[in-house]
Amino acid sequence: MLDKKIFEDNFEKFSEMKDNVKKDPYLLSFHIYPEAGWLNDPNGLCEYKGRYHIYYQYSPLDENKSDTCWGHVSTEDFLNYKREDIFIYPDFKLDKDGAYSGSAFIKDDKINFFYTGNVKHDGDYDFIKEGREHNTIRIVSDAYNDSEKILILDNDDYPKDMTKHVRDPKIYEKDGYYYMFIGARSIEYKGLVLVYRSKDLENFTYHMRIETDYDFGFMWECPDFFTIDSKDFLILCPQGVENETYRYQNIYQSGYFPIEIDLNEKTYKLGEFTELDYGFDFYAPQTFEDSNSRRILIAWMGMPDAIYTNPTVNYKWQHCLTIPRKLSVKNGKLCQNPISEMENLRKDHITLKSGENYEDFVFEALAKNIKYSFEINLRSDVSLSYNDGILVLDMGDSSFGRDIRQVKIDKINDIRIYSDKSALEIFVNEGEYVLTSRVYSENAGFYSEDLDFDLYTLNSIDFI
Ligand code: FRU
Repeated sequence: MLDKKIFEDNFEKFSEMKDNVKKDPYLLSFHIYPEAGWLNDPNGLCEYKGRYHIYYQYSPLDENKSDTCWGHVSTEDFLNYKREDIFIYPDFKLDKDGAYSGSAFIKDDKINFFYTGNVKHDGDYDFIKEGREHNTIRIVSDAYNDSEKILILDNDDYPKDMTKHVRDPKIYEKDGYYYMFIGARSIEYKGLVLVYRSKDLENFTYHMRIETDYDFGFMWECPDFFTIDSKDFLILCPQGVENETYRYQNIYQSGYFPIEIDLNEKTYKLGEFTELDYGFDFYAPQTFEDSNSRRILIAWMGMPDAIYTNPTVNYKWQHCLTIPRKLSVKNGKLCQNPISEMENLRKDHITLKSGENYEDFVFEALAKNIKYSFEINLRSDVSLSYNDGILVLDMGDSSFGRDIRQVKIDKINDIRIYSDKSALEIFVNEGEYVLTSRVYSENAGFYSEDLDFDLYTLNSIDFI
């Protein structure tokens, strides 16, 4: 349990932690990171009255996860950010062990937030089938005030064959109905999405479930459902999918099903699950549509329960968010590309010819018209190479347990690399494939014998 008072009583501790964060040589330049403490999933993404609001799972007083709140930053232009007060504290009986993930839906000039109140009962439970509550809670707000918390659904409202893991609500509106998609784990340990329906955003009734007819993990977290170019997509994070050489290489996955669904008739057909990212640190993506009709995705640049670590713990913080990415559809597949505002970070343009070295960590680099295989040094000890239809990201010796990721790609035409002090986002073929990873090299050294790059030095984003 953490409430406003406890947080304020710990002002000194938090200030010390903040001072430590600023000393970290791995501090980021253009990624959103926590002021101090631990960050995970993006939550409640929305544009409201001309301002973008980005909330996130946050443990301000601990560089490891504990007492999860909703942190909050806001921006008008994705360059200048304001660090806002904590938005949701886990401070009442229905969310006392964590204000878990959720989303925002704007209606009648108000933001309707839906999130999961995590409650653990005292006693010797497994906390999966017993001893836990996952309450779906609503807050109607203007983005800033932590207003009244209203219980919308609790354990008794979930189907009887569910475990107590039912969380991460996301709303989709269609034909006068509001549909709430929630991630779940059944008592048979099968991951699935539950769909609830409402006319008024207050009273939700169980509507249908979406699942595979084959084995695809024991839990599906953080579902998201949306339409682009008249095509429907269901994003989710399955846990318990078997690793393969070229896919599903992380402990947990993030990806999407193209889906043909008739929400009224409760019928659906899932297409092939495709991963959204092939790097080491990408999880719990969330999307929202802005006033320019862009579907923007932001994800947690981290991975729960991974064996690899982050040396930033020495400076009292962990994790960051990805840069915002615009989603588009190409040949039925989702592509992700940095939103155009990212170009405003550019400072100097350098033409980096093959064989030339660039000795800084922070840059954007773009190679086009790629014809053959190649090797790129992203850092002195980190490489990205492409041979015989396989792209290999090799994290070298200094990546705190991150080793190699391999992706099958028939042909590579272009690569855009966003490199921050301790983060890499690599976009291949205009966002058809993406690899996102934290990286902790001591020496820079961007270099390729094979490719020429348009390289841009980058300004930092600002936080006030
Ligand atoms: C995903 C997740 C969510 C949950 C949140 C808790 O990373 O496990 O399912 O709501 O994190 O922080």
